[in-house]
Amino acid sequence: MNREEVAEIVQRYHADRTATLAILQDIQAKCGYLPREALEEVARQLDQPISNIYRLATFFRAFSLHPKGEYVIKVCLGTACHVRGGPGILDTLERAFGVKAGNTTPDNKVTLEAVRCVGACALGPIVLVNEEPYGTMTKDKALKLVEDIKSRSVPVEPSPGAPPPRAPRDLSGAPAAGR
Ligand code: FES
Repeated sequence: MNREEVAEIVQRYHADRTATLAILQDIQAKCGYLPREALEEVARQLDQPISNIYRLATFFRAFSLHPKGEYVIKVCLGTACHVRGGPGILDTLERAFGVKAGNTTPDNKVTLEAVRCVGACALGPIVLVNEEPYGTMTKDKALKLVEDIKSRSVPVEPSPGAPPPRAPRDLSGAPAAGR
């Protein structure tokens, strides 16, 4: 993201310091993470110490200071999902992809994350793949998901402007991580 693009976002909020959070959200939405250069530019344009910007950027879990993989897999470890086996699902995915939660595979294909309740407790344990929900997950379903993702060479992204999917996928049959 170049300086002009950062300026455009900052001006969207009239360079109002109280809108710093919204500015960071817009940058993350555009880049997928918060590049260091962009944060420095935000600090300069808002005439704030860079430490203030970093404090916000590191406080909220929704922000990332590093690029994420083509597939961001989130495993819910909220209470409902936890008691239904969420930790085991996460362990299965960590072993299968060879990375711990919070990390990205060396080929930048997968970022694995542990998250708190995503608001679909009745369908837990739940996993999100690029925000697409997969409910009533089991270790076997998780392994099918892994195989499906590993077999893909091109990421499947939601269409621009498409509404977020609502119904969790059922992986009881054939691998169904595609759309
Ligand atoms: S605890 Fe996982 S969706 Fe609520």
